[in-house]
Amino acid sequence: MSQVTIFNNVEHLPPDALFDIKKRLSQDTRPVKVDLGIGAYRDNSGKPWVLPSVRSAESQLQKDPNFNHEYLPIAGLPSFTTGAAKTIFGDDYDSTRVISVQSISGTGALHIAAKFIEKILPGRIVYLSNPTWPNHKAIFEGQRLTTAQYPYWNASTKSLQLDGFLDTVKTAPEGSIFVLHACAHNPTGLDPSKDQWAQILDKMVEKNHIVLFDSAYQGFATGDLDRDAYAVRLGLTKLQKVAPVFVCQSFAKNVGMYGERVGCFHLVIPDQSVEINASVKASLSSQLAKIVRSEVSNPPAYGAKIVSTILNTPELNKQWHADMVTMSSRINSMRHQLRDHLVELGTPGNWDHIVGQCGMFSFTALTPEMVQRLEQNHAVYMVSSGRASIAGLNEGNVLYVAKAIDEVVRHFTNSNNSKL
Ligand SMILES: Cc1ncc(COP(=O)(O)O)c(C=O)c1O
Repeated sequence: MSQVTIFNNVEHLPPDALFDIKKRLSQDTRPVKVDLGIGAYRDNSGKPWVLPSVRSAESQLQKDPNFNHEYLPIAGLPSFTTGAAKTIFGDDYDSTRVISVQSISGTGALHIAAKFIEKILPGRIVYLSNPTWPNHKAIFEGQRLTTAQYPYWNASTKSLQLDGFLDTVKTAPEGSIFVLHACAHNPTGLDPSKDQWAQILDKMVEKNHIVLFDSAYQGFATGDLDRDAYAVRLGLTKLQKVAPVFVCQSFAKNVGMYGERVGCFHLVIPDQSVEINASVKASLSSQLAKIVRSEVSNPPAYGAKIVSTILNTPELNKQWHADMVTMSSRINSMRHQLRDHLVELGTPGNWDHIVGQCGMFSFTALTPEMVQRLEQNHAVYMVSSGRASIAGLNEGNVLYVAKAIDEVVRHFTNSNNSKL
């Protein structure tokens, strides 16, 4: 039979919400427009920023007479994966229980995790925070895994819904997989306190759950890479005798190399005896190598070499930590300026949550209708959930954005008494 018409009824899917914002913005001819959509750092003039540590590492690499474009090993560049593990676990991590494979940024690490779970742990439910980065659901369900949600954001108090979260951990089938944002939760910008982390992780231990930490913003919550690894390190300590821990690590944001796709998947095996650890590690390494080989054959080299140079050269590492402070403190200053302008303008509602939140985003509590009006009337773009990438604000546009929010909030407050 002819195959000519086989694609005629294929469903046309809607465009990706985030990348569609970028498209609309680039087609917008208004002179003043503000991009608070995608989570990418911008400097105070609204431009992408190449970190000084990255510039130095690149020039160091280019001067290296041994530099080449050969294939990397299947598991990636060893100096990169070891450096990545030390960055998230601390210098004295137990390498006998950690398998690290290079990935196509954070998304690729999550994809490896999903494939691994589907193959080795089929039937486990994967719990995602409500709300979460929308791609989480797509990645896990794309591997035919079942996902469920745990409560996270309490919209009325703009704080963590800890009781609901803990209840779900308690009632989930034993050995379920919980995806936790390691820090700077996307989209809410709201992280558990140290005490709340302890309660959450203790409950995971009680139910023998498997925690998958998604670490896409290390350094953006506090400006300090070690402090932002707090939850992961606590999780490893608490869960070491109980269950494996997965970590999906992205270097897109904290090294500012979004398009180079540098990331790492770490699997920490539970601690048994030295012999068993070694044999489990060897078997699982072989399984992960097979996944990587069939997906990308071997990971891309260039970005990993830059990040490895930064991680393994003490002066560059120091510079990177300073670059992180530059980025996170500029974002923090923008949070304060936005909140202060809204307060000065007398914008209806309380705006303190903007400064209480951390990382790149603020969950502004603007409704989808408000977000739409912001775009239509003021050329201020953000996702319909009301998540604003604070990195898109700068000294030149923050007052403009505050005034735009003020107009929009007043419009809806007057028309239907919408509460913020
Ligand atoms: C929570 C979260 N996880 C993972 C990622 C993956 O990022 P990338 O694939 O660019 O490293 C992102 C990116 O926005 C994210 O927000």
